[in-house]
Amino acid sequence: MSDVVKIGIAGLGTIGSGVIKSLLRNKSELEKKFKFQFEILGISASSKDKERSFDVDQFTWFDKPIDLAKDSNIDLVIELIGGDSGVAYDLAFESIKNKKGFITANKALISSHGKELSKLSESSNSFIGYEAAVAGGIPVIKTLRSGVILDKIDGVYGILNGTSNFILSRMSEANKSFEDSLLEAQNLGYAEADPSFDINGLDAAHKLSIINSLCFAEFPSLESISIKGIENILTLDHKYAQEFGYNIKLIASSSKKGGNLRKEVAPTLVKIESSLGTVSNVSNVVCITTEYNGTLVLEGEGAGEGPTSSSVLSDVVDYSMNTRNYLFNKKSSDLSDPIINKDLIERCYYLRVFLADQKGAMSNLTAILGKNGISIDQVIQRGGVHLKDEKNFTPVIMLTHPVDSDSIDSAFSELIKTDLISMDPIFLPVLKDNL
Ligand code: HSE
Repeated sequence: MSDVVKIGIAGLGTIGSGVIKSLLRNKSELEKKFKFQFEILGISASSKDKERSFDVDQFTWFDKPIDLAKDSNIDLVIELIGGDSGVAYDLAFESIKNKKGFITANKALISSHGKELSKLSESSNSFIGYEAAVAGGIPVIKTLRSGVILDKIDGVYGILNGTSNFILSRMSEANKSFEDSLLEAQNLGYAEADPSFDINGLDAAHKLSIINSLCFAEFPSLESISIKGIENILTLDHKYAQEFGYNIKLIASSSKKGGNLRKEVAPTLVKIESSLGTVSNVSNVVCITTEYNGTLVLEGEGAGEGPTSSSVLSDVVDYSMNTRNYLFNKKSSDLSDPIINKDLIERCYYLRVFLADQKGAMSNLTAILGKNGISIDQVIQRGGVHLKDEKNFTPVIMLTHPVDSDSIDSAFSELIKTDLISMDPIFLPVLKDNL
């Protein structure tokens, strides 16, 4: 590799344009600080004519992104297209096969094809950087790839999706509806092109699967993660959760207990004053519990142009310094296929149902819960509150005593078959002893 790094960039949306502006803005400072120079040798996106925040004509335009990977003058390809198949997939594999460095913010790609990518990067001895794929501007990949490399990690938990955290914060702090909060997040450039991944927990699960591979030597997979999104949370859930002393956050966690690894993404009640409970708007937080270092807490902006571009640039610097890590901290032959563990941990749950306002309804509800081994700790039911179109149903909110998830699933299945309730009930776990 010469001292001049020749870069090709594919994908010129919010992040791609941000990376180009940031590279240009910081060029002389980076070149002074690190022993390399760089040049953007080519750019590519689906349309050249679209209005952009930088002058496209100052760079060589490639109609097809894949040609960046085939150009013998380009050393390093930066993929900011997104998606785990199609153009992004082809570009990744062609770049690595051609022994180019490859940098991406694409968590779906790294998560879905981690096994093939780690094998291929070993055989071609290529650099793959994906700091921007997890938690925006927070250097969590670097921390897990080199910072805590000698420590023993017991678990990782946190908030890994900025858009859903923004939506939940707007609902709880500004009393906004889910739909208005989502629109606001999209206008600010936080959401994915298809925001359903932000909302249904898949984006956080992609990121968790990557973190999990780095911590626990498994290939990434979504199948081994229990995934629930925020789509069924109502503004009133925030109010009731706060009455119990909690905020609702989309928590991703991977924790080891007695040889079991429990991996979950779920809207979860966290203490209002805790470090997770106070993380607002687009911020992410990652808590790493270690044997020798206690708990490390990394917090910062998890989405958007500035933070994500900054992580891409940190990978450009790593590439220029000739850093070579195994993709997930270990040789691919030392990684295992993910194990699906049964969740045996008992936790308290928040339950919200819209209960029929009729004689015996409450006793029938508690009978179903009791039959499934669920014991109630606290209850809220207020007169005069009901669903817009169904005036005969009023919200009943409960906090349970600790119970296992099988009991919760079985009570859920029984409840949805009755005419006691309108809308599916929600059961949200309560995070115990969080920082
Ligand atoms: N849509 C993602 C988020 C972007 O909101 O976290 C960063 O991965």
